[in-house]
Parts: sequence; structure tokens; C-alpha cells
Amino acid sequence: MQRILITGTAGFIGFHLARLLLSEGFCVHGYDGLTDYYDVSLKQRRHQILLEHENFSATIGMLQDSLLLTRVASDFQPDVIIHLAAQAGVRYSLENPRSYLDSNIVGSFNVLETGLRLNVRHLLMASTSSVYGANTTMPFDEDQKTDTPLTIYAATKKANETMAHAYAHLHGLHTTMFRFFTVYGPWGRPDMALFRFTDAILDGRAIDVYNHGSMFRDFTYVDDLVKSIRLLINAIPPAPRDRTHRIQNDSISPVAPFRVVNIGNSTKIRLLDFVEAIEDELGQKAKRNYMGMQPGDVPATWADASLLLELTGYRPNTPYREGVANFVRWYRSYYNK
Ligand SMILES: NC(=O)c1ccc[n+]([C@@H]2O[C@H](COP(=O)([O-])OP(=O)(O)OC[C@H]3O[C@@H](n4cnc5c(N)ncnc54)[C@H](O)[C@@H]3O)[C@@H](O)[C@H]2O)c1
Repeated sequence: MQRILITGTAGFIGFHLARLLLSEGFCVHGYDGLTDYYDVSLKQRRHQILLEHENFSATIGMLQDSLLLTRVASDFQPDVIIHLAAQAGVRYSLENPRSYLDSNIVGSFNVLETGLRLNVRHLLMASTSSVYGANTTMPFDEDQKTDTPLTIYAATKKANETMAHAYAHLHGLHTTMFRFFTVYGPWGRPDMALFRFTDAILDGRAIDVYNHGSMFRDFTYVDDLVKSIRLLINAIPPAPRDRTHRIQNDSISPVAPFRVVNIGNSTKIRLLDFVEAIEDELGQKAKRNYMGMQPGDVPATWADASLLLELTGYRPNTPYREGVANFVRWYRSYYNK
């Protein structure tokens, strides 16, 4: 039975990923600090559900606690580490940049050290479409330069990519970095648009629509995302000397067993169309507060997911209306609204 250590299992994506892997017979240990960035009870509830599974165990701890992380990992002896825990969120990084340095830089360094010490078969870590920063050539592909991050959040994730590349090169640590594009779905994050909009519409509050509605996102349904991660576990980047065939448009490093992979739906959706889907699902119109662009925000994201398809034979494909309907169904039943 494959043993997977996942950081961030009380979080939105980690929870879904752990559930999928457990359903496929993996043995999973979760590591999460249950930070209070948003409602801790939602995180606890996710963990409770996972703990119902006999092959799931968890440690509540911070990534910065390198002794604890090392001990937990040595006890568990993972074959693979999937590192998702992070201080996430673009907007909050303007308010509290230091928390991003602590969790994302120091924390991810500790995860790299752990992966190295335990000689894991594959280390997979979350980055973000935010690393494309001010780029305007769309869709974004992995070979584009990512030298214009617009927030400390994006900068810490870009730093993670470069730190991981260095460890892959120096120590032969086989590493895949994912760049996720706006992930949404049931059990989603309260700080993200779908949750905030649904909550506000049901409470009769106005929703803030930035850039006067001229915003586009490549919304990626969480089930599609975790399926992509699951398939990438087996797409281990080979060391330069072991490469037997070339993959088209591969982002693989010429000097290290390291690549970055976009995980997105490859569809650019207008934010206002997304809002309309929420309204239709709720049977209620939103009061809209049209605002200017937020500092650090980007008007559009759009993934080229052809590398993911090439590596796994799969690409996310859930239509946003279907994903929104699933979210609204979950939200209404979870919050009894
Ligand atoms: N959701 C998205 O749209 C999206 C997009 C791009 C990238 N990402 C990345 O995907 C990953 C997962 O995101 P998510 O949406 O599930 O976020 P989330 O906030 O729901 O989950 C992150 C989890 O990590 C834990 N955590 C945070 N800092 C920690 C620390 N220092 N030590 C231990 N645990 C800590 C939190 O308690 C939380 O449960 C993150 O790395 C995020 O940056 C997410």
C-alpha cells in the first residue's frame, strides 16, 4: 500500500485529495496546523470526516516546527509527499505579508528537507497561477517567464519553485510543482469569491465586483484538480541522464528531475457569468457593488493545460455551471440556509 504524507489536509484541496487517495486504497497521513486564517471549525469538520477512514491518521502541527515535522514523517515513512499547506490568498498577503514568509518560505523549506531526509520517491508541491503575475500572453503556459509577481503571496510561491528546483538539482529529489488556477467546489474556502458571493446573496448583502466586472478566471473544479494531482503522482520527472523520450512542450528542467505543471480548466470564464450561475442556482439576484481593480489583483487567468494532458491523458473538464450547482448544494446543506 502506497504511503502518502499530505500537508494541509484540513484545508480545502488537501481534504478532497486525501478523500480521493483513501478511496483508492492509499494510506494517508495528514499534517496541518489548523491556522485561523478562516473558520477553524470548517477545517476540523474536514479532518473529522477523514478520520472516519481507517487508513487516515493526522498530526496537528505547524510546518515551521521542523522537529515535529521530521519526527512525524520519519514515523510514517511516506513514499510520496504532497505539500499543499500554505498561507493562501492573494488579498490577505497585502495585510499580513509576514505570515506568508513564515508558512510558505520557512515551512516549505522544512518540507524539502523532510523529503530529502526520507528520500521520498516523489515530492509534489502547490504553486499558483499567481506566479504568472503581470503576464498578458494567454493562455499561460509553463515555459513563460514568471518574473513579475504582483503580491508577496505570488513571490513566496515563486520562491518555492526556485527552492525546489535547487534541491532537485543538488540532491536528485524528484519534484513536481503544480500551478493551480482558481479552484472551487464543495467544502471550499470562505475567503474565495464563490463562497463569499453565495453567503452575501443569501444574506441580502451586496457583492463586491472588482474591475467593474471585467475579470476573467480559469475556474477549476476541485474534483478535477485532485484527480489531476492523483495522476501526476506517477508522472515522476526523470533525472536528465534517465530521459528516454521527449514530451511535447515539457517544462522539465535541463539539469534536475523537476517540472512545473499547470492544473486548470483551460477555459477563461467571465466573472459576471460565474455570478449569474450562482444567482440561477440560488434563485436570487445579487446586489452588485462595482469597484475598481484591487491592488495586486490580475484581470485574467487562463491555463494552457496541454502538458498535464500529455503527462496524464487527462484534463479538467467540469463545466462551471455544474461545479457551481454542486457547491451551492453543499453550502445550503452544511450551513442549513
Ligand atoms: N484554492 C485555490 O484556488 C488555490 C489556487 C492556487 C494555489 N493554491 C494553493 O493550494 C494549496 C492548498 O490551498 P487551499 O485552497 O486548500 O487552502 P486552505 O487554506 O484551505 O488549506 C491550507 C491548509 O494549510 C494549513 N496551513 C497553513 N499554514 C500552515 C502552516 N504554516 N503549518 C501547517 N499548516 C498550515 C491550513 O490550516 C489549511 O488547512 C495552497 O498551497 C495554496 O496556496 C490554491
